[in-house]
Amino acid sequence: MRLRTLCCCAALCGLTSIPVRSQTQTKPVPHLEKRGAATQLIVDGKPFLVLAGELGNNTSSTLENMKPIWPALVEINLNTVLAAVAWSWIEPEEGQFDFSLVDGLIQDARRNNLRLVLLWFGSWKNGTSSYCPAWVKRDFERFPLVRDKDGKGREILSTFSEASVNADARAFAALMRRVRQVDSQERTAIMIQVQNEVGVLGDSRDRCPAANAAFAKPVPQELMDYLEKHKDALLPEFRGVWKAGGFKTSGTWEEVFGKGEAVDEIFMAWHYARYVNRVAEAGKKEYPLPMFVNAWLVQPRDKQPGDYPSGGPVDHTHDVWRAGAPRIDILAPDIYLPEFGEICARYRRGENPMLIPETRADAANLFRAVGRYNAIGFSPFGIERQPDPEGLFAKSYAVLSQLTPLILANQGKGTMDAAVAGANDPAQKVSLGGYTFSVSMGRGRWGVLPAAPPPAAGAPQPPPRGFAIFIWVGPDEYWVAGSGIVATVEPITPGPPLASLASVEEGTFADGRWVIGRRLAGDDTGQGGEARASLRLPATRVSILHVKLYRYR
Ligand code: DGJ
Repeated sequence: MRLRTLCCCAALCGLTSIPVRSQTQTKPVPHLEKRGAATQLIVDGKPFLVLAGELGNNTSSTLENMKPIWPALVEINLNTVLAAVAWSWIEPEEGQFDFSLVDGLIQDARRNNLRLVLLWFGSWKNGTSSYCPAWVKRDFERFPLVRDKDGKGREILSTFSEASVNADARAFAALMRRVRQVDSQERTAIMIQVQNEVGVLGDSRDRCPAANAAFAKPVPQELMDYLEKHKDALLPEFRGVWKAGGFKTSGTWEEVFGKGEAVDEIFMAWHYARYVNRVAEAGKKEYPLPMFVNAWLVQPRDKQPGDYPSGGPVDHTHDVWRAGAPRIDILAPDIYLPEFGEICARYRRGENPMLIPETRADAANLFRAVGRYNAIGFSPFGIERQPDPEGLFAKSYAVLSQLTPLILANQGKGTMDAAVAGANDPAQKVSLGGYTFSVSMGRGRWGVLPAAPPPAAGAPQPPPRGFAIFIWVGPDEYWVAGSGIVATVEPITPGPPLASLASVEEGTFADGRWVIGRRLAGDDTGQGGEARASLRLPATRVSILHVKLYRYR
């Protein structure tokens, strides 16, 4: 009864915690822009680097629960929070919306000077449909479920249902309308994740009657047209599957892509993409914030699609997702595997913007994502309970926030890179601006990082590593920041064969102004009796160096 009253108030009387604004827009809508080789997120008309954390699934389910969490997020230097908004939380009864939670999250984020990325837990969250309202769950005739090989229903809404996609799209559109109404002036919400880690679990495809009928039909012409048009640009692993069947341009799914689990996954990817696209489209009609989907990646133990969600935006189905979901702007990986760099490289292909919505709070990976892969954003999962020994991750966010103008000015230009080095790694090479830096993990008083935080999802814990970002800003001039590394330098362009340090300043940016803390030479640059001068970033902190080089013979 209380809820009904609330709904009526929210929907009809406009008695809400945030006043609904008129259409007057003072700041442009956040959007993506391609700049050089990078895509940037533009917020308030300027590029923005998302230094974020994703809350645990249910942390944002009440404003009360969030109260003590907001200050803790500010404390660890986040500028953005990824927070779930579940379908069941906003439409508990069909057609009756309660936006008090959404209004409150926006308002509280704003009060804490944080931006928001809302995660729409609609039809699916980690494959299953646990966040749908009870009126959807109970009505399994109207909102049919995935059926597996044994004909058993799974707790997963089938993509083959007009009723489901329409109901989800209507709720999502209502959410986006509300966000536009309450946030068109401040733009606290900057991006939206549509669903969460979609795909069929427990079988390689849906086998409900409608799915079986669709599987026996020809591959939709739209997909065939897309593949033909982009034939030379398709990602090799997907192109390989199409090639194996002789690049057929028509036929049933099995005729075009062969028999087995691979075709099941392609089939599901197409149907998830179409469904998610319809939901995203309905939302964008109301308020066109950038929208992304996130992928549960193939884990080492997974033998086939269905062990991991079949049809989700894993890298080998990216082409299908691009064809089927043009309203989705970013296909994003949730990275809990140790091959962080390789996964970033695979997700960057095909000009896919780089965003990591879920990962561990690993400062080395943060620097790598931002410095090497031009990431729009980085966001450890369960941020409110991530351990951060020595505060290294929070310090890393503080340093990257100071460097943000430099980072954003250099994204996509080939003037920035990053290196991560473990104790047994060969020296990592960073070549920029006519010099190569050889980067190793620091030893002795420069080395051994505090232990990395324990993994969020059972992944092996990485050994201690040093890390640094390098930004080349002019002839012989660099900004270098990081922790636990030693780097020597040599020239790679014609001229005097040796290089060394003309000057090294250590300091901080305060309100965008460089403040020198110390000027470094001697012991702090390896010039106390060692063969070669080197840049040294102590492991116990995250430092910024302003470096000028010179050459001699
Ligand atoms: C990935 C999911 O997307 C998250 O919502 C959460 O369930 C984490 N896994 C848990 O590690």
